[in-house]
Amino acid sequence: MRSESDRSRVEPFHVMDVWKAATERGRTHGDVLSLAAGQPSTPAPAPVLRATKAALDSELLGYTETFGIEPLRAAIAAHHHATTGIAVDAEDVVVTTGSSGAFTLIFLAAFDQGDTVVVARPGYPAYRNTLTALGCNVVELDCGPETRFQPTVAMLDALPTPPAGLIVASPANPTGTIIDPEELAALARWCDEHGTLLISDEIYHGIVFGEQATACAWETSREAVVIGSVSKYFSMTGWRLGWMLVPPGLRRALQRLASNMTVCPPAISQYAAIAAFTDEAKAELDSHVRRYALNREVLLDGLPEIGMGDLAPADGAFYAYANIGQLTDDSTEWCRRVLAETGVALAPGIDFDTVNGVRTVRFSFAGATADIEEALDRLRKF
Ligand SMILES: Cc1ncc(COP(=O)(O)O)c(C=O)c1O
Repeated sequence: MRSESDRSRVEPFHVMDVWKAATERGRTHGDVLSLAAGQPSTPAPAPVLRATKAALDSELLGYTETFGIEPLRAAIAAHHHATTGIAVDAEDVVVTTGSSGAFTLIFLAAFDQGDTVVVARPGYPAYRNTLTALGCNVVELDCGPETRFQPTVAMLDALPTPPAGLIVASPANPTGTIIDPEELAALARWCDEHGTLLISDEIYHGIVFGEQATACAWETSREAVVIGSVSKYFSMTGWRLGWMLVPPGLRRALQRLASNMTVCPPAISQYAAIAAFTDEAKAELDSHVRRYALNREVLLDGLPEIGMGDLAPADGAFYAYANIGQLTDDSTEWCRRVLAETGVALAPGIDFDTVNGVRTVRFSFAGATADIEEALDRLRKF
């Protein structure tokens, strides 16, 4: 029997183990409060659900163009124009199977085996693990509170040679921190000057608290790749639809790869998602963001009271990332105990930080406010 490939020996997404244990606990105890899932607790907005039903009746729902149907690409382009003021064409947009699908495609299109790609630590683990499976050399920048857990130009200047790629995420997972617009512009300029492809993960745009502005990398450089998704702000994780804004020089390569690898993103999701960019959907989605803001306040007030006040500044997304080094140096075991004794599911930091994640934990506050309050109560007793 053929054994598994070397390239497949990457870390799994460990939080999935927490989900499994939480589902099991739900079956046996019926008391689970999940602050582990990085997804909204709401369905797709009403206009999307109506458009889905209409598409089932009126569309063939066969394969579509590889880069996605024109009306959706145009709606995404218009969305970028509305949020940034810059001109974006439907031609610039490549629709993908979740932003996860976008990452695999752009990594394959732009990087060769052995190329160095730089990411932030802590950060979203799939960048590191997918790049590793594809044979790239991943260099993690140690990003701490002094830079809001984000990479800086000074860190890039300190590298021995310019890398083939840099991935940034703002707002970020797991910290929720935002890269200051001037710093993002400076990073984009640095990448242009050094022949480095900047991949800017902007899938949490729209979920921002307070005054901090989120910039789009394309406001500085159209040589960058901008990643978007309907998963987070748009409350449509399971619809598996994302997109990228792509410089012309990479489009043909993406076309070759995407047509072979997936043919096209899911047709029903594409027809439905057009309605996600309407004013009616925006009103509904903004009401979710107001709830996240309330949940964030409850959590940021409550966590210090129970000795978990060493938090990353939660500027956006729906996460609070806590250093719990005074409680444990085995966050996985600690989260397992918390789930077993309280029914509260949390994400241990090991997915996001291979060095310090044994002392960190991520709280997702995308759920109901009452659940966050109840979870804090149980954690207080624990
Ligand atoms: C920073 C970041 N990027 C990308 C993704 C992948 O999202 P999707 O494939 O649902 O668009 C996630 C999911 O949690 C994420 O947190």
